[in-house]
Amino acid sequence: MKASLFLFISAVAGCVTQPPTPDPFTTFTNNTVFVPDADYTSWRTIYGRSLQLADGSLLMTWEDYPPEPPLDAFPIYRSTDGGATWGSYSSVVDTVNGWGMRYQPFLYTLPVSMGDYPAGTILAAGVSTPANLSGAYIDLYASTDQAVTWAFVAHIAYGAGPETVTNGNQAIWEPFLLHYDGQLVCFFSDQRDPLHAQKLSRLSSSNLTSWPTDSTDVVAYSTYTDRPGMATIAHIQSKNDYILTYEYCGSADCTAYYRVASSPLEFDSATGNAVVSNDSSHSSPVGSPYVIWTNATGTDMVIMNGASQSALFVNDDSVGVDGWRMVEVGQWASYSRQLRVIDDNGVQRLFIANGGNMVTLSTCNWVACGVVDLDLL
Ligand SMILES: *[C@@H]1O[C@H](CO)[C@@H](O)[C@H](O)[C@H]1NC(C)=O
Ligand SMILES: *[C@@H]1O[C@H](CO)[C@@H](O)[C@H](O)[C@H]1NC(C)=O
Ligand SMILES: *[C@@H]1O[C@H](CO)[C@@H](O)[C@H](O)[C@H]1NC(C)=O
Ligand SMILES: *[C@@H]1O[C@H](CO)[C@@H](O)[C@H](O)[C@H]1NC(C)=O
Ligand SMILES: *[C@@H]1O[C@H](CO)[C@@H](O)[C@H](O)[C@H]1NC(C)=O
Repeated sequence: MKASLFLFISAVAGCVTQPPTPDPFTTFTNNTVFVPDADYTSWRTIYGRSLQLADGSLLMTWEDYPPEPPLDAFPIYRSTDGGATWGSYSSVVDTVNGWGMRYQPFLYTLPVSMGDYPAGTILAAGVSTPANLSGAYIDLYASTDQAVTWAFVAHIAYGAGPETVTNGNQAIWEPFLLHYDGQLVCFFSDQRDPLHAQKLSRLSSSNLTSWPTDSTDVVAYSTYTDRPGMATIAHIQSKNDYILTYEYCGSADCTAYYRVASSPLEFDSATGNAVVSNDSSHSSPVGSPYVIWTNATGTDMVIMNGASQSALFVNDDSVGVDGWRMVEVGQWASYSRQLRVIDDNGVQRLFIANGGNMVTLSTCNWVACGVVDLDLL
């Protein structure tokens, strides 16, 4: 018993190659944010997400699987030194369902006031589902004190379960929030339509509290077994276009696809193309893509990545199919690795949030981050 426990702990420790703690407000990769205890279950940690608060501090959250009880919640960790060191700050706890906050957290700063919530309110959305996965809500929580305390706002969507990826189960996943044209829009993966094993859907609210029941299609393929999933969207400000990336599971084996439209409400009629690197490798990121736009270097760039490889894929703001350059930045690949441009004590830099991987490394997942010089892209 003792011996096997020792071996398990060694194996866990062996997974983490922790470089020296970086200096504050510098560039680095593979920096450890959180290492789960050896008794963690499921994927241990996965699906890292970040946010930068108005005071410049950075937040990270992720799916977190300590043994229950208490029910799973989304931890909120904070760094006040540009991601060099991290500490526990708060957590987003299910206060309404008795199920826990289990899957796919997402953090967002409300850019304008909506309903009773002032501009600058910090939002957290994610999937609440019980351990037996008998049903699921995408729930919305808000913090009006910069992520110190959280309060339930609304159920955005409900799926009757089981909350699994089996075709035909009424599951919902992976909320992505975007303010557009006076509405908060929630994009999510949706297995509830009998015509589609999974499709991408959206719902909109004008005041955060009231959400319609009927969703609108974002990406839905005519082949039943196709499963577009994991929507993320960026506003290409230089063109006033919007880019959607998603994994195209089913016919395209989860290759990352993208669509560009003049409104984030018009992806349904836009053409989907695979992301393919324009070097001789013709490489495509596969699984859980994430996309952002930035002009911080003075050059307009669309940056995306997927779970299958550590490289970033960088394009210009016309996002042509032949424009994807592959750029290696030395941060390990991850399931739904999130990208964000941060103000790093006056310098705009790329922040990369890793939660872990779903298959190969799930026995030793941990949470890590990187801060990368945008001039290298
Ligand atoms: C699943 O768990 C929920 C919450 O604990 C409980 O209310 C429900 O009865 C359970 N369903 C089944 C089928 O066991
Ligand atoms: C939110 O908007 C809905 C209509 O869209 C309205 O019925 C509801 O009263 C509003 N709630 C608040 C708190 O403003
Ligand atoms: C980036 O784009 C915004 C909006 O289009 C513009 O106001 C700003 O000047 C641009 N910044 C740089 C560095 O080009
Ligand atoms: C790849 O795309 C970039 C634009 O992102 C372009 O500058 C470069 O010339 C392209 N490379 C090739 C080999 O086409
Ligand atoms: C980060 O970790 C990955 C995976 O272990 C490794 O391949 C890569 O070299 C590391 N990056 C640096 C800069 O050490």
